[in-house]
Amino acid sequence: MTSTHAVPPAYPVTVPAPPEEAVAPLMRGIAVLRGLTDVGGAASLSDLGRATGLARATVDRVAGTLAHMGYLRLDGSSAVLEPRLMELGNAYLGALRLPDLLGGHADGLADELDESVSLAVADGDGIRFIHQAIRRRTLSLSFRIGDLLPAERTAPGPLLATEWSAQDWTRWRERQALDPEDLGFPAIPPRSHGAVAEDFETRVERARVHGWAMDDQLIETGLVAVSVPVRAPDGRIACVASTVSHTSRHSADSLRDSLLPRLRAAVAAMERDLADADAPPSETRSVPSGLAAWTRESKQELGGEFIASLARGLTVITAFGEGCAELTLSEVAERTGLPRATARRALITLEHLGHVTAHGRVFRLTPRVLALGFPPLSRTTLARIAHPHLTALTRRVQESTSLAVLMGDDVQCAVSVAAGRIMDADIVVGSRMPAYATSTGRVLLAGLPAEECSSRLAHLRMGALTPRTVTRPADLRTILDHVREEDYALVDGELEAGLRSIAVPVRDREGSLVAAINVTMHSSRRSAAECVKAVLPELRATAVRTEMDLHLAGRFVRVPPL
Ligand code: PHB
Repeated sequence: MTSTHAVPPAYPVTVPAPPEEAVAPLMRGIAVLRGLTDVGGAASLSDLGRATGLARATVDRVAGTLAHMGYLRLDGSSAVLEPRLMELGNAYLGALRLPDLLGGHADGLADELDESVSLAVADGDGIRFIHQAIRRRTLSLSFRIGDLLPAERTAPGPLLATEWSAQDWTRWRERQALDPEDLGFPAIPPRSHGAVAEDFETRVERARVHGWAMDDQLIETGLVAVSVPVRAPDGRIACVASTVSHTSRHSADSLRDSLLPRLRAAVAAMERDLADADAPPSETRSVPSGLAAWTRESKQELGGEFIASLARGLTVITAFGEGCAELTLSEVAERTGLPRATARRALITLEHLGHVTAHGRVFRLTPRVLALGFPPLSRTTLARIAHPHLTALTRRVQESTSLAVLMGDDVQCAVSVAAGRIMDADIVVGSRMPAYATSTGRVLLAGLPAEECSSRLAHLRMGALTPRTVTRPADLRTILDHVREEDYALVDGELEAGLRSIAVPVRDREGSLVAAINVTMHSSRRSAAECVKAVLPELRATAVRTEMDLHLAGRFVRVPPL
């Protein structure tokens, strides 16, 4: 996500000409988002121009509009995808419901087997992941939600291909001819041998007969997987569950003998839950309220640099979600506040690009919505999410800022943004400091469950780091009570003479405390009271922005702190 890769040339594909009513700026915006996704979430604007075939001036306007929407950030002459973009993939996954209904079973199975477990759906002649319970100890690649793999090099592929139409098979054969090395699948190493294509049809027939399929190192040496279809009550495949291992632990035979029965049992439980699932309450709230006003203001503010039709078109995707998986044109117009004609053209464009399908009068999102940023963004961490917000905070308050997590009795710095003064607080990422004497540490200790907090304090060794350091557990306990009440901590000269810092909590979607952010300054710069008056509101606003991103990113993905 942070490095800027060159954009590889796209493999040659035959794309049908867009319908006359397609919205060209929406197509360009999606090309930019997909180009950025394929190279890992960051690229220079000139590389993006090359990859998309768009003129540099166009790329600049598209990127500027996407930045204004909060979907990417411009970093010098590079564009970097932002977590906010995940609202598009979240709309698809929410509408699909499978991650919410089946994700718990997949996670439970991963714990039971101590192997990664995934759920995947068909996307054209590929498979796309919609859930991942990852065990990080194999030497192999691990895939993330939204990653697309060629069906013939996977275990779920042959199962999903049992439902392919003649048109799907034709498309698959065309791709074999056009992209023999799988360059259109940036998540996997290029294919180096030709055997895969020949036996795929045999594997599909075997999958149809046995009801399971295997990937014996088709993606990468060492990577083995076995898959079973999860069927909806109507008998069609809702998704495919896989368990993935490494040849150092399982051969293909032992995977089948020891893991397949347990995978099948978990899939049976998934199918029961699918059959018992109540229809979700239908969602009537109209989504993004004030879109029309926002678009008008943006246009006024940015003039020709803001492409309103691109913003409106992408907003159509967010009209879908849990409880509104299928929408008519009128419903899309109503929920977005867009004129019917505008919503209609956006839907036609999205359908042409494969992000929406029409079924009679209703429209649905497709798994390809995940190609708009999900794979790189679902690899993000809280530290990456917080970094741009702390950079902005440092710019506003002209002081150093950091984010820390609790590690035993210490806090560990995960992000540090220096203000660039000579007398700067020198906090190095990865460094540890005693929690009892730091503002972030006190926020994090205060947020522990009462019992754990008491037992920590009971054994804590609190040395005097300066003459001001609070060293009596009873005093610290009183301080932590205040921190809990006020929801911030201020530490003045207790860690180092002359150093003052103020911290607030960062909480995840469930309301659990996951980190603390702080501003550190020299005591001579302002009084403690001024610090509370002037810095604390800015710090709190930064926590809110960080949490908004974290909650969006954490809807379907586990976001680790580091
Ligand atoms: C995975 O979940 O990472 C996975 C699943 C099926 C495969 C390969 C990898 O064939």
